[in-house]
Amino acid sequence: MLFSGFITLAALAVAPVRGALTYKGVDWSSVVVEEKAGRSYKTTAGQTQALESILKGSGVNTVRQRVWVNPSDGNYNLAYNLQIAKRAKAAGLGVYLDLHYSDTWADPAHQTIPAGWPTDIDNLSWKLYNYTLDVSNQFASAGITPTIMSIGNEIRGGLLWPTGKYDQLYNIARLLNSAAYGIKDSNLSPKPKIMIHLDNGWDWATQQWFYTSVLEQGPLAASDFDMMGVSFYPF
Ligand SMILES: *[C@@H]1O[C@H](CO)[C@@H](O)[C@H](O)[C@H]1NC(C)=O
Ligand SMILES: *[C@@H]1O[C@H](CO)[C@@H](O)[C@H](O)[C@H]1NC(C)=O
Repeated sequence: MLFSGFITLAALAVAPVRGALTYKGVDWSSVVVEEKAGRSYKTTAGQTQALESILKGSGVNTVRQRVWVNPSDGNYNLAYNLQIAKRAKAAGLGVYLDLHYSDTWADPAHQTIPAGWPTDIDNLSWKLYNYTLDVSNQFASAGITPTIMSIGNEIRGGLLWPTGKYDQLYNIARLLNSAAYGIKDSNLSPKPKIMIHLDNGWDWATQQWFYTSVLEQGPLAASDFDMMGVSFYPF
């Protein structure tokens, strides 16, 4: 299953429109950061409204939110995400959580283990399970059931480096299995769709290599996740 419904605000103008997309999404993670910096949002008619109202009124049905573990300024941590997810829910929007499993940006060049987390594969797998379970249960307690949760962000080169780097395929399989079960064992009901998210969505050889080599390790089953997500920057 190819996930192609999400676009960033910056890419909105060039979004392709074909047929009925299930998810019409915008990553609105920075809304409170921007509001604290004094910014507000207006409709095309010039009326100032809450961003979630403008998004909902424009046909968006889901917001994407990045979750960092313990960022130094608190932005994008769990509490921040619960706060904005409540606003999204109140506006009638679904929530897609993008778990970075880092204290800062995770991408193909950065997958730094959060400060204080263990680095050996056994303890790190448990920590990842516990953390994902805790995030899931805190959302459940807040009455918010994400529609999608991605376990890692742009993990073409692995996650939680160096333990889960691309040359440690068995560890990647274990980590993704532990992360998936943190969601599956949670109180969330119905269960969110579990996504594995890589970048270079245009490059089938890379996508094929990743899924084939990680799945053949053993610990991760195809039934452990529901969606293959891609970042797609064709320009
Ligand atoms: C895992 O954590 C436990 C408890 O902190 C510790 O005793 C053990 O040495 C750790 N395992 C490794 C391989 O570091
Ligand atoms: C995971 O959570 C369990 C139960 O709360 C706890 O006993 C265990 O020490 C935790 N493990 C890690 C690695 O955080």
